[in-house]
Amino acid sequence: MDIVSTVSAMQASSRAAHKTGQRVGFVPTMGFLHEGHLSLMNIARQHSDLLVVSIFVNPTQFGPHEDLSQYPRDLARDKALCESCGVDVLFCPSESEMYPLDSSVYVDESRLSCGMCGAARSGHFRGVLTVVAKLFNMVMPDVAVFGQKDAQQAALIQRMVRDLNFPVEIRVAPIVREPDGLAMSSRNTYLSADERVQALWLNRALQLAESRVGEGGLQSAAIASEMRDLLGREAPGVIVEYIAIVDAVSLQPVDGVGSGVLVALAAQVGKTRLIDNLLLA
Ligand code: PAJ
Repeated sequence: MDIVSTVSAMQASSRAAHKTGQRVGFVPTMGFLHEGHLSLMNIARQHSDLLVVSIFVNPTQFGPHEDLSQYPRDLARDKALCESCGVDVLFCPSESEMYPLDSSVYVDESRLSCGMCGAARSGHFRGVLTVVAKLFNMVMPDVAVFGQKDAQQAALIQRMVRDLNFPVEIRVAPIVREPDGLAMSSRNTYLSADERVQALWLNRALQLAESRVGEGGLQSAAIASEMRDLLGREAPGVIVEYIAIVDAVSLQPVDGVGSGVLVALAAQVGKTRLIDNLLLA
């Protein structure tokens, strides 16, 4: 596995692969890798010849009061995991390599980014889209894989690729969960034992929504209200930030529920903000 830290070395590596007709697959991450990240790498590997993973804790997607300085990091462990996953190039740019001090161009999306996580995390998706656009220009992938875990992020990246004509195929991989149902996240490491037990109710609330949809007859507002009631009753330590029932592509709220509808939520569990969602089949 090559470890690359400069943009020019990264671009040279991708150009060399393209010259010999190889497809470049890409998984961008912020590191502290878990099975969710590894599942993305496995999918990317199936659709490419050269597998590139990036690790960059992107400061521009963290708000001033968010967890940038505490964000978990373990580069030695991440390197070993990438190696064992068959990663060909691990791209770890420094902050100065990524952002010239006088950077002044950003990618702003004006519709899908306004609600859900965007409502509470001002500037977050501007940071995400800007860094992903930059990473696409650095890695020049033919295919890039993102997780359904961050459903709004995945929808926004697909919209950016469509609207700005990035020549890359986007694949979205299903959510990988712990055996007890908690969606895997680098931030789960912040949870105390008690908070982790409370956090399980997020997935249970989504499962309740799924079974109510299966039974038929309920509109989205009634389902969201049942989810809130369940969380309020069973997990008083979970402070719901939003429950959104939206079209999975446009992220606009829907009344009727069915295939192509996304049930997404965010909640504060202690000091940790968690998200989870369910895409209705
Ligand atoms: P990060 O949180 O490290 O996640 C990297 C990728 O892994 C994202 O596409 C995310 O959706 C996916 N992922 C995380 N947990 C997952 C799970 N349990 N199952 C499946 N996929 C999962 O998302 C980011 O980093 C950043 O915003 C980034 C895109 C790298 C831009 O900085």
